[in-house]
Amino acid sequence: MRTIKWLFDIWRKKKRLATFLVFMSILNASVAVAYPLFLREVIDALTEKASFEVISRNVLILVALGFANFLVYSVMMGTRAWTNIRLERDLRQRMFEHLIRLGRSFFQRFRTGDIVTRLTDDLSTDMKLPWFVCSGIFRTVEAVCMVVFGLVVMVRLNPTLTLAAVGPLPILIVIFMATASAVQSRYERLQKRISDVNDHMEACFSGIRVVKAYGREKGQQRGFHEVIERRKRAEIDAVRVGTIVQSMYGYIWQFGVVIVLLVGGKMVMDGTLSLGTLVAFDAYVLVLVFPMYDIGTFFVMGKRAGVLIRRMTDMEDVEPEIKEVPNPKTLELECTDAGAGVSGAPARPESAGVPAFHGALRFENVSLVFPGGRKILDRVNFEVKPGEMIALVGRVGSGKSSVINMIPRLIDPTEGRIMLNSTPVRELSLESLRRLVGCVPQEPLLFSDTIENNIRFHRDWITDDDIVRGAEVARLMQEINVFPEGLETKIGQRGVTISGGQKQRVALARALAGRPKILILDDCTASLDAQTEAALWDGLHQVFPSCITIVISHRAATLEKANLILVLERGAIVERGTHDELAAKKAVYHTLYELGKLEEEVGRDWGQ
Ligand SMILES: Nc1ncnc2c1ncn2[C@@H]1O[C@H](COP(=O)(O)OP(=O)(O)OP(=O)(O)O)[C@@H](O)[C@H]1O
Ligand SMILES: [Mg+2]
Repeated sequence: MRTIKWLFDIWRKKKRLATFLVFMSILNASVAVAYPLFLREVIDALTEKASFEVISRNVLILVALGFANFLVYSVMMGTRAWTNIRLERDLRQRMFEHLIRLGRSFFQRFRTGDIVTRLTDDLSTDMKLPWFVCSGIFRTVEAVCMVVFGLVVMVRLNPTLTLAAVGPLPILIVIFMATASAVQSRYERLQKRISDVNDHMEACFSGIRVVKAYGREKGQQRGFHEVIERRKRAEIDAVRVGTIVQSMYGYIWQFGVVIVLLVGGKMVMDGTLSLGTLVAFDAYVLVLVFPMYDIGTFFVMGKRAGVLIRRMTDMEDVEPEIKEVPNPKTLELECTDAGAGVSGAPARPESAGVPAFHGALRFENVSLVFPGGRKILDRVNFEVKPGEMIALVGRVGSGKSSVINMIPRLIDPTEGRIMLNSTPVRELSLESLRRLVGCVPQEPLLFSDTIENNIRFHRDWITDDDIVRGAEVARLMQEINVFPEGLETKIGQRGVTISGGQKQRVALARALAGRPKILILDDCTASLDAQTEAALWDGLHQVFPSCITIVISHRAATLEKANLILVLERGAIVERGTHDELAAKKAVYHTLYELGKLEEEVGRDWGQ
């Protein structure tokens, strides 16, 4: 049912194309069915020794029909092939647009290789979903027209012989009923195996550095061998059933020809049937063989398509976790004079692109419970004013990343709210909100592109000056200048050719280039040396004086700079205050601070 609705939704938007294809199918079937009729005329004319004129007229009609058949057939096939390709693109685009809006839990549930398979292999025109949606359906429409027209003409010519000729039909119906479910289950297994292979490759190549570091190439080879072996077995299994079914169809229809020759031959000898009609009947059996086969396969392919459509709707049914409220507020864009600090440039009116927001960020009793009842955050309250820096500290897994991921709404709190001045972030459009926030995640990710494009990151409102400023504040410029191509330097797959620290600073420059009003740094200063970090804070203060900064760090130098430090333990804020206040308390913060300092010292000693 779901399959039919899905297909119906697609064709509802393409009514004209569908009508054209149906019309072409009818035309094609009419021409194909008319052909044996004129063949019959020619042969009967020959046996009756009719005039040359009659014979040649019928032969000419045959030639014309042949040509018409060629024309109609090519236009019809061409349109179908073109539609298949367009559907392939449209479906991929539609799925991609849907997937890109989904939240992280979707990507935890569906593995990357699986998603890629569903978007490539499942949606290829090679007898997969797009093929079925157009060619599969309209081949069947054409086949049904052929069978109906053919049968009508046959019955009118000779009902008894028609009955004999279509005798094997019930056997065919029994066969495809029996085989359809066998084909479906095998097909489903095959698509899963293909996903497994792609998953294995994705995991192996994206983690190639870890594979190499541990010398696990052999293990990966073995794993790959296993998945492709399983895929091969599933493929053979599916092909075997398909081939058996196919050959049975073809073979059974041979009976049709033989029966027509036997029964019809007897009628010709008895003089109750003309030779022309016998020949026409034989031609009709051949005309009907393929459409009958097509109708049979339609059921089998329909089952397959059902599997593929379910694989699509599985993903389409997932709703984005983070949704905008109806009529969300959008913040007006402002002309900013940020940047005046670096190059002394005056305010640039064309630099509009950053939402106007001046004010405080406030967490009000924010709690987070993950499905399953695990409480990750427990009534978190704090406020940061423009220009202030707040630091979050806490042990591994204490909920620090969860707190900051709520600001750009990567996660929504289950209780409480997050306010920007008097507006809850939930009420803002995601576009406005995310333009306000510059986020450097714990694990920065770069794309295989130039440094400049990695910093700009498809935000067309970011100017070249913004990029340079971002790179300068992130202390990246000196290093970029060393590269022969500067900002144009291409970085390899996930930034292989640049160092870990540079990678983090590209991610930082990406956040800064957007002139954020709220800057979030998730433990990203760890790979900077103390001097670079001090310069980073100075630059930040100078260029973005009113920016709210929230940083997760255990570095002494960072913590000492923070206006407020929040200490998280199991999702709850257990201590808050400035460094001096908390250090004097000699409680949780003090321990963490000393540990951090110790680590830094050890690290420095090792470095020397
Ligand atoms: N999507 C999720 N589903 C279930 N639990 C999660 C999810 N994301 C995080 N958690 C859990 O929430 C807790 C807090 O995670 P979070 O990433 O906020 O910790 P953190 O303080 O940033 O740790 P770290 O210092 O290691 O970065 C962890 O126990 C983690 O297992
Ligand atoms: Mg974290």
